[in-house]
Amino acid sequence: MFKIIKTKKTIPKAAILGGYMKEQVLTNQEELQFEALIEGLLNDQYGFCESFMEESTVLGLKNNLLSHLEEGEMYPAGIGKKFDYQKNASVRGDLIKWIDNESTDVYERILLDKIERFIQYLNRTCYTSINDYEFHYANYEVNSFYKRHLDQFKSEKGRKFSFIIYLNDDWTVDDGGKLSLYINASKIDEVYPMGGRTVFFKSDELEHEVHPSLTRNRISIAGWLKNI
Ligand code: OGA
Ligand code: MN
Repeated sequence: MFKIIKTKKTIPKAAILGGYMKEQVLTNQEELQFEALIEGLLNDQYGFCESFMEESTVLGLKNNLLSHLEEGEMYPAGIGKKFDYQKNASVRGDLIKWIDNESTDVYERILLDKIERFIQYLNRTCYTSINDYEFHYANYEVNSFYKRHLDQFKSEKGRKFSFIIYLNDDWTVDDGGKLSLYINASKIDEVYPMGGRTVFFKSDELEHEVHPSLTRNRISIAGWLKNI
């Protein structure tokens, strides 16, 4: 099992804000978000943030996804190494498109730069050794789901942390598509995919499940922080 240890802060906030740490200048709000995600992970097995990205960024990413969908650039995701479409569709029904880590798209850059700052923060405060990441757009059409699973497969050993960002406008409980998080035998938490929300958890430990979307496409970006 992959254990993480959270250290006491070694660098005073004033030093960070004062720009001593050139490679990582965090705003106060960003540091609070990062702390909330990490504290949630340590205390409750998952971190949650209501508005991880600004509304305009969520909108930009959403429009990117919709145009990829329209252009027919999204395809069924594989599970493990051997891809069997029939078997795959009975487990997960989302269509995905990978995001290039070197992307110059303005909204993808805002997201990935923030993810890189988060990785630095995580490595510095929790002694994790994340050295890579991968993110993709995901679209679940009506009635699509992803059955209960872990995110670390035999062929994906490097995945340490999972990160989901939802892109849906005006989503309500009646739209379905909730994410169930299987915390332990007697505790299952639920998160509905409202735009801007983020969920963060350990890829090899927390089982989770995407329930069918009932009314319309359920759109998100899913990603993994990796050690390769
Ligand atoms: C995944 C996944 C959760 C969600 O892509 O592996 O579990 O809420 N996604 O979209
Ligand atoms: Mn998953």
